[in-house]
Amino acid sequence: MGNCLNPPSSVEDSRTSQNSSYPSKVVTSRASSLSVPSSRTTCSTPSTLTIPSYSEKNSSGDLPTPRTEGQILSASNSKDFTYSELKSATRNFRPENLIGEGGFGYVYKGWVDEQSLAPSKPGHGMIVAIKKLKRESFQGHKEWLTEVNYLGQLQHPNLVKLIGYCSEGDNRLLVYEYVARGNLENHLFRRSAQPLDWQTRIKVAIGTARGISFLHDSKSQVIYRDVKASNILLDPEFNAKLSDFGLAKAGPTGDRTHISTQVMGTQGYAAPEYIATGRLSARADVYSFGVVLLELLTGRRALDRSRELPKQNLADWVRPWLTDKRKLHKIIDPKLGEQYPKRGAHALAQLASRCISNDAKRRPPMSEVLTSLEQLQDPKFAFVSPRAKEGKSSASIPRSSLRFLVSHLHPSDGGNWEPISHQ
Ligand SMILES: Nc1ncnc2c1ncn2[C@@H]1O[C@H](COP(=O)(O)OP(=O)(O)OP(=O)(O)O)[C@@H](O)[C@H]1O
Ligand SMILES: [Mg+2]
Repeated sequence: MGNCLNPPSSVEDSRTSQNSSYPSKVVTSRASSLSVPSSRTTCSTPSTLTIPSYSEKNSSGDLPTPRTEGQILSASNSKDFTYSELKSATRNFRPENLIGEGGFGYVYKGWVDEQSLAPSKPGHGMIVAIKKLKRESFQGHKEWLTEVNYLGQLQHPNLVKLIGYCSEGDNRLLVYEYVARGNLENHLFRRSAQPLDWQTRIKVAIGTARGISFLHDSKSQVIYRDVKASNILLDPEFNAKLSDFGLAKAGPTGDRTHISTQVMGTQGYAAPEYIATGRLSARADVYSFGVVLLELLTGRRALDRSRELPKQNLADWVRPWLTDKRKLHKIIDPKLGEQYPKRGAHALAQLASRCISNDAKRRPPMSEVLTSLEQLQDPKFAFVSPRAKEGKSSASIPRSSLRFLVSHLHPSDGGNWEPISHQ
């Protein structure tokens, strides 16, 4: 789920178990620059919460009408599960059924009957992913409700499907379709992961762009606000599905260009103007998506605290290299070996460069980003020269050779680029 961004001095990392190179999940209040205490208040009176709806507007048509929790839950197309049903679907939230942990909760594998959605035995019926929110999180409850609000009504092949929810006492859970290959972050950065080939990377980028375009171009625009590799789930065919709608916001209406909001998101992915001013527009999603493109292109994390300071932020670091055709090869993910199309890589880098422009107005709209990505499947951009094909991809090269492969990336021509050892 989402995170709130802080000025560096008061960053509060809520992922205690995370690797230092992970994009951090932080909490703050933008207006006052004061941190919200880490021990968040449990929301015992959730029904007082209201969330702006993407689908309803007041009579002036300018602003979305806030809806109460009761209205949101009754309008949702998903099932209202009891806690005991979900307990039984996950065998009492057994540790071996744990498939992930985020800032606000744990995700378990569970089994339900395909028709009735009643809990079933492991291995029988349909697999679902059940997110159980940590109890003490008020922010968690708010995001839970936002998620039911949006995902309960929006359906698209590139958005994860919300099957149901549970609100019983202090327990807040969400039940999703199970997306078998897990998140993109693990595929890109886990040591043991099989490297993704070029075509798969483009397919993932296209699927993600379709999901975001759908949100931006809906009759009532939705800004997703948390585009990042860990929120992009992959099905067995590598179709991308956006998950985690806890930070989604109704976009500006009428003549407005943005909405003003507390700054929430993930460091390394959040757009600079949004961090600086709290003004949020769909172009902030375009920026974050551009950072995901950079991760796909370079195999490096959006934010890596294990690097020295000027190199921690991927977008800032690689920006100068993206538009230089001759130097581009220096930043391409060494796990691709030579097996990527030069022309396609150049076009992708140029597109990413536009998406991460510091001037939001210069970023292309998501529909245009999608069209450009679809063109990269054209043989003209997807062609890998036979010479490159003959070379081995790093997938089949021993680790020691991989180190050699990256060590030729030396700043021989003036840049401050240095070889990096990839995990
Ligand atoms: N529907 C799903 N199908 C399969 N795996 C899932 C599903 N939903 C979540 N997961 C797994 O659980 C992990 C944790 O999800 P969660 O959204 O709580 O946290 P996160 O995205 O990793 O971090 P954040 O709290 O910053 O969003 C995901 O990264 C993913 O690997
Ligand atoms: Mg997430």
